[in-house]
Amino acid sequence: MKQNNLTRRKFIASTSAGAAGAMLSMPLLAGSGTGVTSELALKGGKPVRTGDWLKWPVWNPEAEEPMMSLLRSGNWYRGDGNKCNEFEKKYADLIGAKRVIATASGTTALIASLHTLGIDAGDEVILSPYTFIASYNVVFNQKALPVFADTDQETFTINPYKIEEKINERTRAILPVHIFGLPADMNRILAIGKKHNLPVIEDACQAWLAEYDGRMCGTLGDLGCFSFQNSKHIPSGEGGAIVGSNDEVMDRCFAYHNCGRPHGKSMAGMGKNAIRGSNKRLTELQAGILLSQIERTRQDADKRLENALYLDSKLKEIPGIIPYKLADGATRSAYHFYPFRYKKEYFDGLSREKFRAALRAEGVPTYAGYGKQYFDGLIEDAISSRGYKRLFSAERLNRYRDELHHLPENDQLTGEAVMLFQNMLLAERDDMDDIIHAVQKIYENRSQLL
Ligand SMILES: Cc1ncc(COP(=O)(O)O)c(C=O)c1O
Repeated sequence: MKQNNLTRRKFIASTSAGAAGAMLSMPLLAGSGTGVTSELALKGGKPVRTGDWLKWPVWNPEAEEPMMSLLRSGNWYRGDGNKCNEFEKKYADLIGAKRVIATASGTTALIASLHTLGIDAGDEVILSPYTFIASYNVVFNQKALPVFADTDQETFTINPYKIEEKINERTRAILPVHIFGLPADMNRILAIGKKHNLPVIEDACQAWLAEYDGRMCGTLGDLGCFSFQNSKHIPSGEGGAIVGSNDEVMDRCFAYHNCGRPHGKSMAGMGKNAIRGSNKRLTELQAGILLSQIERTRQDADKRLENALYLDSKLKEIPGIIPYKLADGATRSAYHFYPFRYKKEYFDGLSREKFRAALRAEGVPTYAGYGKQYFDGLIEDAISSRGYKRLFSAERLNRYRDELHHLPENDQLTGEAVMLFQNMLLAERDDMDDIIHAVQKIYENRSQLL
């Protein structure tokens, strides 16, 4: 009741009679009439909101004493302390994983996973092009080729029906990305992996507590990788984790991330430098911060979900706004972002950039997601290098270049995506109403911007 009254008050304050624009036929919010007519903030009108959104990350004051004692101890390296071990155990419990290895970052978790599963120079790895650039870079790091299967623009994730046509004799792995925390269609992907004997490495770097078929993302494939970089839901500046259930593979991952030193029962008896390795360890200080952040994860995830479902129910009623869809079998997103597609034809051609600028002016910041990154230069930088020319035939590299021009759904998505930041979803119902009001206000008054 209180909430409805507040909503009504805010609505009345943000509207004025007589403005032009087609109205929605149904009220979106209780007490808000059939639409919002008002001067847009971008045109000098009163913004829907002026308040700030939650600043991220959020420091936990209770961690000050344990962190100071860790600093004083000098045990900052994992070999001298137990914070990394403690975090690995807690994270495993949180996501229902058998084993977890903390790493320096999500990128290094992916590199260790690809290396351990045998992805080598001259191999190919299949993934969606719609992802943070690290997913491409880790494949290049192995001197392998990231081969893109087109994105399903409704789910923002890899289209499983586009994977098999990309498999050839060089293909060595599938790397589904649960982008924004939206689970990829894992049943179909795992079935393809099984059929072609290809390991599946989940890039779950944005998918803490996301669920597929009731199981946590990151625990479904052969290995799963997470990021704890500062913008992430469990932040520590930098940090990451590998998750897996095969002891032999996990022992090797651990060994690789620790300079190649043999680790665990499966490597017992091996010589000191029996395998190649790197240093991809997390520090005890980062683990200490992670331990202080992990406590809030479940509660935050529930709050994001509740607000996201509310936004779904309202935003989908606004013409031209199409919220993400969960892939078949996906049961829960982590909402690292809340994404929707913006169809400008419903806004009389108002460009996405103007729409976003108008939202920003109303007090609602957004992100436009990923662009056509495959034309940014990094792919050409890799495949025109001496090494790639030695590893792949000219015919294969030319065909690869050509294939980058045949990702129609991804291309479309890069021009239409709009998303809200995860910290916004930790606010209250009234704040979600502000978002809905702002989008509705721009829709109703779009003519002011044309
Ligand atoms: C989808 C995805 N993959 C990989 C990474 C790499 O993680 P990090 O930044 O911890 O290296 C990120 C980080 O943003 C990511 O979002």
